[in-house]
Amino acid sequence: MFLIGKKVLTVATAATVATVVSISSLVQAGGKEAYDNAGCAGCHGATGKSMIPLYPRLNGQNAAYIVKQLKDFQSGVRKDPVMSALAAMVAGKEQEVADYLAKQ
Ligand code: HEC
Repeated sequence: MFLIGKKVLTVATAATVATVVSISSLVQAGGKEAYDNAGCAGCHGATGKSMIPLYPRLNGQNAAYIVKQLKDFQSGVRKDPVMSALAAMVAGKEQEVADYLAKQ
């Protein structure tokens, strides 16, 4: 019983630490994390500095403009075979991603 209890306590402590760490890194790098996790860098380049002419550079772009484009892709106001599907990957995080890219 004691061992099981101790094991459960240890696991719970580790989970708490992991949660605290991931929350603090989300606060610091939520936009970067969302951009990287969604695979945006595959086309737009690390930090938005695309080296491929087909893919627009996003670094240094106005945050409000990026948010608007992402929402327009999601709603269908702006259509692109690639981005119309991919913009949904950062749904709810448009502002964080845009703020991150604007500062690059
Ligand atoms: C497979 C390649 C690819 C991936 C991955 C990709 N994009 Fe794009 N993105 C494009 C292309 C191509 C365009 C230009 C679309 C057009 O001509 O309207 C574009 C356009 C954009 C624009 C509009 C730029 C402008 O100047 O108007 C934004 C913002 C954007 N992408 C953000 C993202 C984000 C955020 C992600 C990750 C969720 C992402 N993209 C993933 C290919 C990609």
